[in-house]
Amino acid sequence: MIEIIRQPAAMRTRAREVRREGKSIAMVPTMGSLHEGHLALLHEAKRRADFVVLTVFVNPRQFDRADDLQGYPRDESGDLRKAEACGVDLAYCPPVDAMYPPEYQTTISVVHLSEPLCGASRPGHFDGVATIVTKLLHTVVPNVAVFGEKDYQQLAIIRRLVRDLDFDVEIVGVPTVREADGLALSSRNAALTAEQRSEALVLHRALRRAQEIFVEGNLRVSSIRVQTRAMIERSPLAQVDYVDVVDAETLAPIETITHPALVALAVSFGNTRLIDSTVLLP
Ligand code: PAF
Repeated sequence: MIEIIRQPAAMRTRAREVRREGKSIAMVPTMGSLHEGHLALLHEAKRRADFVVLTVFVNPRQFDRADDLQGYPRDESGDLRKAEACGVDLAYCPPVDAMYPPEYQTTISVVHLSEPLCGASRPGHFDGVATIVTKLLHTVVPNVAVFGEKDYQQLAIIRRLVRDLDFDVEIVGVPTVREADGLALSSRNAALTAEQRSEALVLHRALRRAQEIFVEGNLRVSSIRVQTRAMIERSPLAQVDYVDVVDAETLAPIETITHPALVALAVSFGNTRLIDSTVLLP
């Protein structure tokens, strides 16, 4: 049976016991509604440590819209069932008031990496992510923490945070898991209508096109950005938030691709905002 813990103090004590038994711990932070992408993270965690902790917490501080937080899918019993089937040892599912009691006032901010891309259109989002990930790392003290590469900017921020705050943890990124037709798995996909879902396939096609333009020898960012964006905008249901090409490590703007570059995009279909990305390797 999977063990369930809901309070930070109990989680800290249990993790200490596990370490005392000489076991290594892998942590997989999630907001629940587990899909195959999350299961890939759990399998990776199983491969890397003796004891796997799944965290499930829909973090209010990383939502910039109240309706988005309210509508975020939640399925704790389904999550626990799937986690148990994957061999997860413990699920840490704290309630909001255990993570943010009324007197709570601390925020962690990874300043520059949080500014571009999703940070520009979702103010405060990455401060919320950095804050909750810091709290989870402090409580569980894992040897390894596993995240999806689909949230590329988030992963870059977490890697920076861990270095800046001297956490003794290995951060592992797992490649994006896609449906057979290319749609990147996301808990948000469930909210797409059949028509929106079918149009959303343009995102993967546009990223593939960006790779093609690059491989054909066009290294100019403006040209890749304009062509990729135009392809998405031909889809009548797509509302582009951004399509950008930036340095893959610093996320800073670039004009020509001389180092690994990230093509990142965020596009809404109705109320559902999807993100996806690919890395261009010179
Ligand atoms: O990627 C997510 O699901 C969340 O942003 C995370 C890392 C669990 C923090 O709430």
